[in-house]
Amino acid sequence: MYAILDAAAQASQRYLASLSTRPVCPDAEAVKALSELDEPLPDASSDPAQTFRLLDRAVSPATMAMAGPRFFGFVIGGALPVALGASWLASAWDQNAGLYESTPGVAHLEEVATGWLKELLDLPAASAAGFVTGATMANFTALAAARHTVLARAGWNVEADGLFGAPAITVIIGDEAHPTLLKSLGMLGLGRNRVVRVPVDGQGRMRADALPAIAGPAILCLQAGNVNTGAFDPFGPLIEAAHRAGAWVHVDGAFGLWAKAAPSLSYLAQGLEGADSWATDAHKWLNVPYDSGLAFSRDADALRSAMAITAEYLPSESAHRNPSDFVPELSRRARGVEVWAAIRSLGRAGLAELFERNCRQARQFARGLQASGYAVLNDVVLNQVLICFGDAQRTRRVIAAVQKEGTCWCGPTVWQGKTAMRISVSSWATTDEDVDQSLDAIRHAARGS
Ligand SMILES: Cc1ncc(COP(=O)(O)O)c(C=O)c1O
Repeated sequence: MYAILDAAAQASQRYLASLSTRPVCPDAEAVKALSELDEPLPDASSDPAQTFRLLDRAVSPATMAMAGPRFFGFVIGGALPVALGASWLASAWDQNAGLYESTPGVAHLEEVATGWLKELLDLPAASAAGFVTGATMANFTALAAARHTVLARAGWNVEADGLFGAPAITVIIGDEAHPTLLKSLGMLGLGRNRVVRVPVDGQGRMRADALPAIAGPAILCLQAGNVNTGAFDPFGPLIEAAHRAGAWVHVDGAFGLWAKAAPSLSYLAQGLEGADSWATDAHKWLNVPYDSGLAFSRDADALRSAMAITAEYLPSESAHRNPSDFVPELSRRARGVEVWAAIRSLGRAGLAELFERNCRQARQFARGLQASGYAVLNDVVLNQVLICFGDAQRTRRVIAAVQKEGTCWCGPTVWQGKTAMRISVSSWATTDEDVDQSLDAIRHAARGS
């Protein structure tokens, strides 16, 4: 056993050390060589060390260097060394983190981390948190609490009786809501298309003046951090109007919620603390390993009512918080461990420095490319930058050339009708020199395309 674990530690370190010099995108040969894995189901057992060597040999070169300093696609944080180390130890513990009585250590860590998160993100002290796989599930989980509450107020028990015959719920979203929010609504039986869409401005912010009149059971979904522009909805007036009408307000803050934890950015998220529930990712900007997301509900009982179960064989009676009372899963890994380790080690100041540095680096990208004559399509208020290199074909050619060259990786998007390259700066590992090196590579690709 120890030989395998030593080999795993060494291979991981070799891999991480290679990330700043290897091409970010795996080369075609490495992807082709994955065919080595296409073997018949083995009949007999074999040496575990040999399986491990195959894994490292075939798959490590075919990975995208998302853990490295120059991956700017999607919204991808790396893994802080302390969070990765905590993850290794937590994997060795192999705790089923569902119930306090059976796994007190990791359940306790989640409680500590929850308290810290509420302080950092300026959320109400009585809120409950659930540790889930990512923002999609965090939205799902928090919106289940919302669905519970708005229907309970109308005299309907949705957990017991489902949605057949239930009073209708009006769900209101911004026109630039993330598509996974719609997926979460669909999974809750609220429908991907059965929503009222509110027009947005040129940055993707919901227009407060366009909010429709709200009546009856209703959920308003707001956004902290648009995936393309990084923009925030105007929370104050929207939340006030929704609450006046008795609606539940949910905020999807997959990465933007962390603005609350940085003094120079918190103005962007001002007012969102007045909502009823929030979703964010830890695997994005908190830089913990996949997968890790967080759902918060101001009303702890609403979340517990939506998620908790009891059974004779489960030791769910506890004076403490049972992690599974707040999430869809009963059995799951102890993902609170990495969240705790990241916050414990960086502290308030280290976290603020990480978020503010990434935003400064986003502005460094925007300034550098604007100075070279390329258009920046968004107000760079957070860590997202949209660059247009001319028409759609040319922009796509530049993006393909950047990806092929390998110094950095950026992906495409279409922002309000314009094709653009997205640059998302979300990693603890990115230095200002990485940004300069990437700027050179992008300019070179643009000149040649
Ligand atoms: C605003 C927003 N919501 C939700 C998500 C989905 O997050 P995840 O992929 O962690 O489920 C994203 C992903 O980028 C996002 O930007």
